Amino acid sequence: MTNQLQHAVLAGTELSPFGRLVTADAAGRSLADVPVDTLLTTTLQAKVLVLRGYRALDKADLESYCRAAGELAEWEFGTIMDLVVQDDPKNYLFDSGDVPFHWDGAWSARAPRYFLFQCIQGCEPGAGGETVFCDSAQVYREAPDDLRALWARAMVTYRTDRLAHYGGTMTHPLLATSPVTGETTIRYAEPLDPAIYRNPLFLTVEGLTAEEAVRVMDDLRVRLHDPRYCYHHAWATGDIVVAENHALLHGRNRFTGPTARHMQRIQII
Ligand SMILES: [Fe+2]
Repeated sequence: MTNQLQHAVLAGTELSPFGRLVTADAAGRSLADVPVDTLLTTTLQAKVLVLRGYRALDKADLESYCRAAGELAEWEFGTIMDLVVQDDPKNYLFDSGDVPFHWDGAWSARAPRYFLFQCIQGCEPGAGGETVFCDSAQVYREAPDDLRALWARAMVTYRTDRLAHYGGTMTHPLLATSPVTGETTIRYAEPLDPAIYRNPLFLTVEGLTAEEAVRVMDDLRVRLHDPRYCYHHAWATGDIVVAENHALLHGRNRFTGPTARHMQRIQII
């Protein structure tokens, strides 16, 4: 057991198939009332932590709260990204369509350990836009040996134009070891078809024959979306969600109703 796991954790309700919901025990609580070490230790245990009934922090306070836990990812917009649906976005993140599975920080030298969302303005029930988290470490644990042997040989090169805060070309092994827990995890960003997405993502797989690469990609398209491995979070105003980035992949369902949603995201390296 690491030192981190010996810290206090927040009790709450277990979500399905993973994740934990913690509701504030009294009115007037804010995120700042939760010690950040407790927040992250709970997230490490639960993989996704949902807080309800805790007031969000303004940007300066959110930044200093998270900075106490580690270095923050810095982008051209600063450390906090405002996620709103735009009318004519260049990048699919700001579109109303779906966002395929990926992990944060794939285009950076270091991927964040955790990311935290504050939902300033949520969606109406049934309006779509749920964030989907896939427990890729669990997918690996339950996969057959022959598939795991193929995965272990696969190197994936990703290519996309830089139209938002990331882009270019990058190569990652399909399997990685989580620097947080030491478990084997799948690092995979799903391809984005140029016929559908505003800035497509092209993949090339090396280390496998062409037939093996097709088999692996076809299989991942189904396996990663198996409901046994995926927690869908429907956003309500005021939700604060923290996720462990190395063990999970995440994406977003498309909006099917009004898109007046506003989220803020910060990443802890
Ligand atoms: Fe992301």
